[in-house]
Amino acid sequence: MSLIRVDEKKCRRDGICAAVCPAEAIAWEAEGFPAEKVDAERRCISCGHCVAACPAEALSHSRIAGCLPFDAEKKIGAEALEQFLKMRRSIREFKPVPVPREELAHAIDTARWAPSAVNLQPVRWVVVENPEKTRKLAELMAEWIKAARSSYLQRFADAWDEGRDLLLRNAPHVIVAHASPANTWSPVDCALAVSYLELAAQANGLGTCWAGLLVRAAEHDGRIAKFLGLPPANRIFGAVMIGYPRFHYQRIPKKNPAAIEWL
Ligand SMILES: Cc1cc2nc3c(=O)[nH]c(=O)nc-3n(C[C@H](O)[C@H](O)[C@H](O)COP(=O)(O)O)c2cc1C
Repeated sequence: MSLIRVDEKKCRRDGICAAVCPAEAIAWEAEGFPAEKVDAERRCISCGHCVAACPAEALSHSRIAGCLPFDAEKKIGAEALEQFLKMRRSIREFKPVPVPREELAHAIDTARWAPSAVNLQPVRWVVVENPEKTRKLAELMAEWIKAARSSYLQRFADAWDEGRDLLLRNAPHVIVAHASPANTWSPVDCALAVSYLELAAQANGLGTCWAGLLVRAAEHDGRIAKFLGLPPANRIFGAVMIGYPRFHYQRIPKKNPAAIEWL
C-alpha cells in the first residue's frame, strides 16, 4: 500500500513535503511532483509533517487519520504565551473537590501533542480519579518512607503521622505517566508529556505539582505499581498531583539567570 498520495491537481510542486520530512522518505526534484521513496514505509515515522506543511492540502498519508483545523485567530501572541509559561506554579493547595473526568481527560488529550523520540508516542497514563484512592497512594508512600529509613525523607512520614499530607498534598487526583524502560527515551518522553499536561491543566483552571516522591517510591516499592495497575514491563517516569487550586498567584518571582555558554 502506498504511504502518501499526491493530488496532482492541487500540488504546487514546491517540494515542501520532501523538505520537512525528517526521515527523508519523500523524493522531489525541481518542479516535479513529490513521490515516496521505495523504502518510505520503513523510514516514515508517521509524524505528519508532510501533510501539515503542504500549503495546497495536496498530500494525504495512509497513517495520518486526518488533521485538526488550525485556527489562526486562536494563535497566542508571544508576550501572552511567555507570561502564561512564567505564571505556571507548582500547586500544593487544592480545593477539596474532585475534578470531573472530562476535564482530566481533556488535559491529557492535549498532552498527546508533546514531542516524543522517533514519534513513538510511548506514554501511557493512569489517572487516580477516586480521591480515596489518592489518599491510599499517599499512605503507601508514607509506609515506603518509614521502611526506607531515610533521614532526609523522615519528615514527610512524620508529617503524615501528624495528619499532614506533604506527599500528595491532599490533592484529589494523581496522574501518572508510564512507559517501557526498554525504550531509551521513555523517561524524557514521559517528562515532556507531563510538562505539556501541566500547561494544558493550567490553561483550563487546574493546578498541578510534580509528584517526584511518588516516582521515587514506585521505583523501590512494588506495591505502588501494583496498586496503580501498571503493566509489569512498564515504569513510572512522571507523575503529578492535580486539582483545582485553592489560591491564585499574583506575581512572578524571578528565577536564576539562564546559565549559558555561547560558542
Ligand atoms: C522532577 C520533579 C519532581 C518534583 N517532585 C516534587 C514533589 O515530590 N513534591 C513537591 O511538592 N514538589 C515537587 N516538584 C516541584 C518543584 O519543587 C518545583 O517545580 C520547584 O520548587 C519550582 O517551583 P515552581 O514549579 O512553582 O516554579 C518536583 C518538580 C520536578 C520537576
